[in-house]
Amino acid sequence: MKNDPTILSIETSLDDTCASVTQGLRVISNVVSSQTSHHAAWGGTVPDIAKRLHKEWLPKVVDLAHRKSGHPKLDAIAVTRGPGLAPSLEQGISYAKELALKYSIPLIGVNHMEGHLLSAFAQTKNGTLGLASPLYPALGFLISGGHTELVLMKGIGDYDLLGVTLDDAAGEAYDKVARMLMLGYPGGPILAEMAKSGTPKYHLPEPMTTRPDLNFSFSGLKTAARQYLEREKPELTKEFIQDFASSFQSAVFKHLIKRLRRAIDLYTPHMILLGGGVVSNTSLRETIRNLANEYSLPVHYPRNKKLITDNAAMIGIAAYHQYLSKDFTDLASLDRLPNLNFPKAS
Ligand code: KG4
Ligand code: ZN
Repeated sequence: MKNDPTILSIETSLDDTCASVTQGLRVISNVVSSQTSHHAAWGGTVPDIAKRLHKEWLPKVVDLAHRKSGHPKLDAIAVTRGPGLAPSLEQGISYAKELALKYSIPLIGVNHMEGHLLSAFAQTKNGTLGLASPLYPALGFLISGGHTELVLMKGIGDYDLLGVTLDDAAGEAYDKVARMLMLGYPGGPILAEMAKSGTPKYHLPEPMTTRPDLNFSFSGLKTAARQYLEREKPELTKEFIQDFASSFQSAVFKHLIKRLRRAIDLYTPHMILLGGGVVSNTSLRETIRNLANEYSLPVHYPRNKKLITDNAAMIGIAAYHQYLSKDFTDLASLDRLPNLNFPKAS
């Protein structure tokens, strides 16, 4: 443990400016500076604003993460190279290069989705809580504002992409339907909270019921929600919103669970790993756990809420494994990869 490498990581794939210090799998500091209020008026992330704020905030956020960890000597700098918004990724990468030069230490480029996938391994400062005995193959289910993916993990660094969303991501659909219901931005968590007290009495169709694959689609469901609201013009009372949110969430869960069950049947994994913002949803986790129990499968996800949504500590966890295998990138060749993903299963 003492010789675990100390890594300073940066994550700027979208609109959170994040930095952390990890020692091996231990998270020593984890700073997330959310830009949400700066984008809220536009109802989505504005690339130019995100770029400007990342540039302005990065030195402060990195300095805070370093100070909070007690200013240890750093062994490497890690940074998200993709997937994400190009102008946002660029800012993190360029600052990470500056730091690697300043400290003369290696630079590690990390896949943001691998960060989410490995986030359940993250330990506390004292080395508690993290997933200690992984069982492979593992089935990764990554559900966020930008992605909805099923990944087969045969070991660290050995991944097959099994299914992706063909249009919107699950979190994006939550946010868009929340906006239709005037719940603000990003309204996904508020919609999920409202759904808890509602009854799913409105017919919103489960997506892709006839496609026997592992891909996802949420735009049809979003359109069905919009068409209902435009056609019926209901008064947006608390009761209506709760029932409508519950109807939407019920269709989302049916879709997610059908794909998850199919992937379990096809690939017989030994554990399930969850990551990405939508996994913050306690009803979803309960639904997934019920399914996993049918198969006696353990389900793992980060116990610390801050590690479920976008953060730099998960980048540090992925970077730790890359550090061990000396998977460094030289400054000149590290570039943003906005469409980076896991290799597709053959
Ligand atoms: O992983 P994340 O922080 O960022 C991306 O990489 O996209 O995920 C953010 C997404 C947002 O769309 C947000 O609305 C959604 O996660 N989200 C939720 C909940 N909490 C966050 N969606 C449903 N239920 C929640 N409780
Ligand atoms: Zn993410």
